[in-house]
Amino acid sequence: MSTTPATPQIQPAGGKLGILIPGMGAVTTTFIAGVEAIKRGIAKPIGSVTQLATIRLGKRTDNNSPMIKDFVPLSALENLEFGGWDIFDENCYEAAVHAGVLERTLLDQLKEPLSLIKPMPAVFDSNYVKRINGPNQKPKGSKMDHAQALMEDIRNFKESRGCDRLVMIWCGSTEVFHRAAEVHQSMEAFEAGLVASDPEISPSQIYAYAALKMGVPYANGAPHLAVDAPCLVELARQLNVPICGKDFKTGQTFMKTLIAPGLKSRMLGVTGWFSTNILGNRDGEVLDEPGSFKSKEESKLSALHQIFQPELYPDLYKDLYHKVRIEYYPPRGDSKEGWDNIDIVGWLGYPMQIKINFLCRDSILAAPLVLDLVLLMDLAQRAGMRGVQEWLSFFFKAPMTAPGLYPEHDIFIQLMKMKNTLRWMKGEQLITHLGLEYYD
Ligand SMILES: NC(=O)c1ccc[n+]([C@@H]2O[C@H](COP(=O)([O-])OP(=O)(O)OC[C@H]3O[C@@H](n4cnc5c(N)ncnc54)[C@H](O)[C@@H]3O)[C@@H](O)[C@H]2O)c1
Repeated sequence: MSTTPATPQIQPAGGKLGILIPGMGAVTTTFIAGVEAIKRGIAKPIGSVTQLATIRLGKRTDNNSPMIKDFVPLSALENLEFGGWDIFDENCYEAAVHAGVLERTLLDQLKEPLSLIKPMPAVFDSNYVKRINGPNQKPKGSKMDHAQALMEDIRNFKESRGCDRLVMIWCGSTEVFHRAAEVHQSMEAFEAGLVASDPEISPSQIYAYAALKMGVPYANGAPHLAVDAPCLVELARQLNVPICGKDFKTGQTFMKTLIAPGLKSRMLGVTGWFSTNILGNRDGEVLDEPGSFKSKEESKLSALHQIFQPELYPDLYKDLYHKVRIEYYPPRGDSKEGWDNIDIVGWLGYPMQIKINFLCRDSILAAPLVLDLVLLMDLAQRAGMRGVQEWLSFFFKAPMTAPGLYPEHDIFIQLMKMKNTLRWMKGEQLITHLGLEYYD
């Protein structure tokens, strides 16, 4: 029987926390502008669990539900410092205007702090992101040269901004689909591959390697592999650094992981789930390319299968036909529209249908996840947690797991796991919702 590990000693959250972000596009600029607006009291952190959610402690009758941010020591928003890399050299204000997510009236109030954030030259490879290219790139060199240049950037950023700790979160474009190859099987092979510029090593993996070597936690907001490769998972464990990913759970997959557990909980069958959406931002343009779309498709498809468990419930789910389409449609910009048609089956096999039409805003949904992830990854590091942080699956479409385990996609199980991990960190009793009062 496994036992719960001892309550960790959590280091205090004092000093500055540097947030380093490869990719300063729509999500990143919406996140940074949002934090600056919240700090100034001109907006509220809606959608952020760390800023708004409470956590129940003890029995229901104890009436004790502090805010998460008062319960565990998290970095204050005033103590965050932002930096990043992009192939375009626009500063964060210009990039936010370009992304077109937030209104100019809001951005103009934040022009001063946003203009000060200028992207460092990126490590980029057009074999991995095909539809875009830009001038702000590191000089030519081997992949190991690039990893070292990134480590130098990290060092300089930390020193010049006076940061005590750092977290890196990938908000760059989705790279083309690829699986872990021979070069990803051991650190020896990976480092030799960096020196030889092995084509199987992607830019996001060079950033991940640089981060881990510098002891910086790495979260992956995109669906491609990045840190989800055996050698990097092992490196994170060896160096005591937390990692997590993949692919922020927003929009249509967020809806799926809300609805599918509910249908399953009532033992209703599903024969088909067709999802299509239109979006017109730069992310949509990159995803219009088949290789990048394949990364996204794999990530989006995995959730339903795991939730429905057709191998356990063949009568209900063995015939499920699941299809996901993404159409690049420039007029919509960041305002995505998603449609789902769900063919369900009830009592005696009678068919029914559910239609969902979600008019969402991609980056408005993703920005609070970035905030929560950077604060919780920093907490994890201060609590001495290392390797894959499965308790942060709540935020991801394709959660990374320890080797050999299947990912948990059900958002309600994920939420319980996240809150129980926070309770465990503070030595509080875990909440199982088991009502033993019946036996009193
Ligand atoms: N918005 C959402 O709801 C959501 C949800 C899940 C995942 N994501 C993922 O988050 C990522 C960011 O989305 P976005 O809407 O901000 O996209 P975006 O296109 O606006 O921004 C991505 C930025 O990354 C830059 N970039 C590409 N390769 C780079 C590299 N090697 N180094 C540095 N910069 C690089 C691009 O120039 C661009 O500015 C995408 O991978 C997207 O799939 C977004």
